[in-house]
Amino acid sequence: MKHNALTRRIAASPLAPFAVLPSRIAAVARHNTRNVQQSASWLLRSRELVHYTYDLEPLNLEHLAWFVSTVTGRPVDEVRGYLTELQEDVELRRVVMDGLARSPRRSTTDRVVRYGRRIGWYALVRALRPEFVVETGTNRGLGSAVIAAALLRNGRGRLATCDIDDRSGELILPPYDRVVEHVVGDSLEFLAGPVAGRQPIDLLFVDTGYTPEHERAELVAATPLLAPDAVVLATKTYMWQELSRWAEEQQREFLHFGEQPHDHWYRGVGIGASFPALVRA
Ligand SMILES: C[S@@+](CC[C@H](N)C(=O)[O-])C[C@H]1O[C@@H](n2cnc3c(N)ncnc32)[C@H](O)[C@@H]1O
Repeated sequence: MKHNALTRRIAASPLAPFAVLPSRIAAVARHNTRNVQQSASWLLRSRELVHYTYDLEPLNLEHLAWFVSTVTGRPVDEVRGYLTELQEDVELRRVVMDGLARSPRRSTTDRVVRYGRRIGWYALVRALRPEFVVETGTNRGLGSAVIAAALLRNGRGRLATCDIDDRSGELILPPYDRVVEHVVGDSLEFLAGPVAGRQPIDLLFVDTGYTPEHERAELVAATPLLAPDAVVLATKTYMWQELSRWAEEQQREFLHFGEQPHDHWYRGVGIGASFPALVRA
């Protein structure tokens, strides 16, 4: 009997749940063994404690190119070029690597530069060519450095970034610090203070990821400060709906890109994007 016919006969039998149990257990065991092997290998080779870094799977990068192309309206091939540009940027990699080596947190740091979703941030900045970019949640400054590298390539634009942690921003180093203003303080005060007194925000990265209520408050505070065609990005869209709800209220589009980390046990985060409404037929 052919394999398919046998499977169909087993599935139709009342004993099917018991008959297929060994195959089901084997499938779960294969999956979990792979996870355990990947976790064990990471425990041995990495020193990271929080804010894990990783590269993305090649197919995931291709999906990222289409995501950025949809959000920005730029041709996908142009966006692929930006993704490659960052991966081939030896100078940025060298500067970030130096920062990691000198970091006070170096004992829980890997001396390898892995950008993850921030490759998409780079492409978004290159494609949109913003004048004024704002980031809430600087952390070490890996995202800020990537955004600054894109601004320098564009030959225009500045980044204002803030974090409540006074150790933040250690990777915002020369020459990238030339286009970055790093503020230590609460993001809501930052938006109401230094940001509110400036030009409209063209690109906003909401990345404190503190609580949904705080993210909502950041979006509400930033709304009157945005340029009409601003793009707003958030990381926690894989966990909560603050950005998509805000987008709906503002009659904007919303899209989520989910990361697929390469060779890592962590399932990854993503990029949520809200952008001006598309004209629909
Ligand atoms: C996910 S990390 C940011 C990652 C960073 N954008 C990057 O590219 O690596 C979140 C950061 O938000 C900061 N944070 C949390 N609550 C905050 C608040 N109310 N105001 C400002 N920063 C805050 C944390 O200290 C933390 O460094």
